[in-house]
Amino acid sequence: MSRADAAGGGQLDLSPAVHYDRVTDAWTLLLGDDLHYGVFEHDDEMLPKATHRLTTLMATAADLRSDDRFLDVGCGIGSSTRWAVECHGVVGVGITTSARGVERARRSAASVDSGRVPTFEIRDGMRNGFPDESFDKVWALESSHLMRDRRALLGECGRVLRPGGRMALCDIILVEPMSFQAVRSLRAELGLLNRVFGDARMETLDTYAQLARTAGLEVDMRRDLSAEVRRTFSCWRTNAETYRDEVRRLIGHDGWRDFVDSCEILENMWDRGILGYGIFSAVKG
Ligand SMILES: C[S@@+](CC[C@H](N)C(=O)[O-])C[C@H]1O[C@@H](n2cnc3c(N)ncnc32)[C@H](O)[C@@H]1O
Repeated sequence: MSRADAAGGGQLDLSPAVHYDRVTDAWTLLLGDDLHYGVFEHDDEMLPKATHRLTTLMATAADLRSDDRFLDVGCGIGSSTRWAVECHGVVGVGITTSARGVERARRSAASVDSGRVPTFEIRDGMRNGFPDESFDKVWALESSHLMRDRRALLGECGRVLRPGGRMALCDIILVEPMSFQAVRSLRAELGLLNRVFGDARMETLDTYAQLARTAGLEVDMRRDLSAEVRRTFSCWRTNAETYRDEVRRLIGHDGWRDFVDSCEILENMWDRGILGYGIFSAVKG
């Protein structure tokens, strides 16, 4: 099956909602139930342990506490929202633009062993529609690169937080601002990354911090995690080999091959100091 066949024929629609509806099931094989990078402390660590470490870093950054009303913006299949409910006792709401993500998140929320089952809704992080000051904590765990209007995303995070509330964000970043010439010279590689991961744009941590300030948030922690997450790509490659047939059935042979190629491109961009990974937290004044 070709990639176009897997997508229903014709040109691939890379808009995040359509893209995630198409790739979510394959992603859970390639990346695991946590649809994000891992933070590795040792070379021989397994991917699930490392992805969980990133979730716990976010929980510390957001200072999740029992009874917090917590919003997970870009919640994937809801694994982190569910964990925050079960392990931190928050009242969790996960949002994503992917109908498939919400469907899977709701299905697995039914197994939450507590009176507090998280809720999942289709909503856009750049215009979420929740009332002002309705959450204590908000995070965007590796979803911001898919939201073109980062000012709107951070503005919405600031708006729905109560005064004194906290937000945390982690994502793939530009290590340095990229010149137009650099973008042009990397056009083929960036095009392939967009085909694999959806229509994405990266920012520097400085830009994120500036946008957070504009949204009335004071950044109190920022950290470059580029070195710690780099092993993620070799784990994804191993999963691609392990689940080759299933993944090819889900996203086609070209989709599978593009994913494998993208791991090498990302490693290369990491090593050249073009792309990296960052986390920050901020408090609403
Ligand atoms: C890389 S996944 C991360 C998922 C989840 N945070 C996790 O770590 O498992 C990116 C997520 O962002 C969601 N997303 C993309 N654009 C969005 C938007 N405008 N509003 C809300 N969610 C969005 C995707 O549907 C997907 O669930």
